[in-house]
Amino acid sequence: MGIRIAPSILSADFANLQAETARVASADWLHVDVMDNHFVPNLTLGAPVVEAIANAAAQPVDAHLMIEDPDRWAPAYAEAGARSVTFHVEAAHAPVRLARGLRSLDVRASMALKPATPIEPYEDLLPELDMVLLMTVEPGFGGQKFLDLVVPKIRRTRELLDKHGGDIWLQIDGGVSADTIERCAEAGADTFVAGSAVFGADDPDRAVRELRTLAQQ
Ligand code: DX5
Ligand code: ZN
Repeated sequence: MGIRIAPSILSADFANLQAETARVASADWLHVDVMDNHFVPNLTLGAPVVEAIANAAAQPVDAHLMIEDPDRWAPAYAEAGARSVTFHVEAAHAPVRLARGLRSLDVRASMALKPATPIEPYEDLLPELDMVLLMTVEPGFGGQKFLDLVVPKIRRTRELLDKHGGDIWLQIDGGVSADTIERCAEAGADTFVAGSAVFGADDPDRAVRELRTLAQQ
């Protein structure tokens, strides 16, 4: 199974984003957290900054939209150059239409679930998706503690994805570190976001490579 590591630039130096992307040259994707002060109690950046990052970075951009009304706003992130766009199912009004709209813009369509949101009600949506993101912290901030209670949901989601076939990635976001990545990989995750564990390290690129090695074991 392919393993992908996506450093979250939420923990990078926002005044030097281009230089920060170059510090994680081994990364498969760059995870960009979009927050709107409504869906989560924090505000980060919007489509113009995503466009600037997509133009400046060597890695493809994975936009994680923690915003209300993604049905209205998500397509702008595809147009800004993100290669993968993740919306939260708790905020989406018409997730099937939204996922199809993203795919029609030639980006990967991805659906995120907060820690307490079950996957089972959304089983029938899986064929519409290229990735499922399971949050392992409450969304809104970097540097929080990994929530072990989500691990059984990782396992159940992996079973559902295998049952449906295809190649839908399973991403984990929140508190991913050298201490927690192995239990996520063992439960079936293949795509890992890490913010503080990467950009808080002395050598962020080495941290990316170490995380990948741990996830592959
Ligand atoms: C949190 C964001 C995460 C965050 C992860 O709401 O979605 O992507 O940057 O940060 P760490 O890895 O520090 O938990
Ligand atoms: Zn994120």
